[in-house]
Amino acid sequence: MAKLNKVKTIAILTGGGDAPGLNAVIRAVVRTALGQGLTVWGIKNGFGGMVENQMIQLTDNSVAGILPRGGTMLGTTNRDNPFSYPKKQDGKIVYQDMSVQAMDNLRQAGIEALVVIGGDGTLKIAAEFYQMGLPVVGVPKTIDNDIPDTERTFGFDTAVGVATDALDRLHTTAESHHRVMVLEVMGRYAGWIALHAGMAGGADCILIPEIPFKTDSVIAKIKERQQRGRQFSLIVIAEGAHPQGGEISIARIVEGSHEKVRLGGIGEKLAREIEELTGMESRCTVLGHVQRGGTPTAFDRVLSTRYGVAAAQCVLDGAFGNMVALQKNQIIRVPIVDIAGKANNVTSDNELLTAGRAIGICFGD
Ligand code: F6P
Repeated sequence: MAKLNKVKTIAILTGGGDAPGLNAVIRAVVRTALGQGLTVWGIKNGFGGMVENQMIQLTDNSVAGILPRGGTMLGTTNRDNPFSYPKKQDGKIVYQDMSVQAMDNLRQAGIEALVVIGGDGTLKIAAEFYQMGLPVVGVPKTIDNDIPDTERTFGFDTAVGVATDALDRLHTTAESHHRVMVLEVMGRYAGWIALHAGMAGGADCILIPEIPFKTDSVIAKIKERQQRGRQFSLIVIAEGAHPQGGEISIARIVEGSHEKVRLGGIGEKLAREIEELTGMESRCTVLGHVQRGGTPTAFDRVLSTRYGVAAAQCVLDGAFGNMVALQKNQIIRVPIVDIAGKANNVTSDNELLTAGRAIGICFGD
């Protein structure tokens, strides 16, 4: 790896919700950069730490043993946006633009470039800093897999594995009790986790935000199975799924967060409706943050390591303003501004959807 630019000191920041593989990315960036003679700092607690000047120097020893660990050794938050940063004034919270202060903090520490590991909200902020002149490289993180121009975000494979395991476990108890089991999974406004876990776990119905569902179609599927002697059914529903003509289920609105809307509750609503309309006992399991915690799968560890090495290589090449991405099993670079603020959703021609339909899975339409 040839060092083509003059950057000597970089920092790494992890922002937004955590995802399995964050530590593996940090380790790969640190090891690659140190190997090329760079100095590496870690910014603690996301963009808040950049504003508050919370940094630690990262060495080979500081990243030893973190590859299989969930979470992020740097801490993270989806609350703090330097462009609209919460400050207490006269007992009240007011929002101020602290982006210049945050950039100054880096400059004063001698940090010349920033590797930002995050999802859509974090990468959007990274794009704004890039436009202000900060040399930035992005790494796509989220269990939701909803970032454009990359076939995979790290963390997704682990979340799908956890959801698949849950479906396998629900399968045997559903069968024993002749029940309908509804599994609500994360994913925000994208159905990737539900789609992949539903396929892997043999769900009878997969309900995703991209296909508003008809409860009648779900009921018809359950009844059709009953008639064939299958006295139980498994349904996986994405937290952002909603009935045709109906609203998304919101668990809570949280002021002061990048992501104000907390989704949740659609699984329980559907389970109650199914019970009323079929007379079959129905239960809902909400998987929640179990999908995000714990050790990454081998796939996510490898992908995260590839992303980390590629991000460090962008720094070494002076290729700033890019996000590393996976396309056709190659790690490529895409301009951050091209993906900032955009989402990657399941489209109607998705091959997995077509395969699911071919084997009789109901998608609620
Ligand atoms: O974006 C990742 C994600 O886990 C979503 O799937 C989910 O809707 C959201 O974050 C939950 O956020 P929080 O951890 O703030 O409750």
